[in-house]
Amino acid sequence: MAFTLDPLPYPFEALEPYIDAKTMEIHHDKHHGTYVAKLNAALEQAPQLQTWSLEDLLKNLSQVPDLIRQVVRNHGGGHYNHRLFWNILTPQSRGQPEGDLAKLINRDFGSFESFKEQFTLGATNLFGSGWEWLVVNPEKKLQLVALPNQDNPLTNGLIPIFGLDVWEHAYYLKYQNRRADYISAFWNVVNWKQVEENLHKALLQSKN
Ligand SMILES: [Fe+2]
Repeated sequence: MAFTLDPLPYPFEALEPYIDAKTMEIHHDKHHGTYVAKLNAALEQAPQLQTWSLEDLLKNLSQVPDLIRQVVRNHGGGHYNHRLFWNILTPQSRGQPEGDLAKLINRDFGSFESFKEQFTLGATNLFGSGWEWLVVNPEKKLQLVALPNQDNPLTNGLIPIFGLDVWEHAYYLKYQNRRADYISAFWNVVNWKQVEENLHKALLQSKN
């Protein structure tokens, strides 16, 4: 069964003025759409993988046939990463984490401010295209990791719960070369409730 591109959970302009409508439209419809289309095209060449979930593909990339492994890495990763990204954004951000997420951030980073600083530094310093991730590691601790291109933490045994796309396509129309301004604006539109749900799911999965 082919993967599909879900619509955004809010209108393209919903994240204005932090992320502009034109960027959201092109990013979702064209960039994300292309990842889904190319992933599906690759999987047509490997019918034995068509029952695998997206998570299965990324966790077990080494078992994907050589012929399509790099395409699945790039476009399967691209599909997963963007799907997660749209869901951790909202026009109604509550500004900071609460509940279990706030507790674990305090435990593993000292404070929310310290977490924000470390995440911002990682995202700013990431060379070229890639993502800064907040993940749950096998010890059930929160950890930051920067990965290039569309590489996904699942391939490295880590479960992503929050991430920031720092490819130029995510910000160039509005911010041009000013990646730091885009990162700073991003904090205004984070869906912390969704990140906390992702945390709960990740903690359950990491028990297995
Ligand atoms: Fe992107």
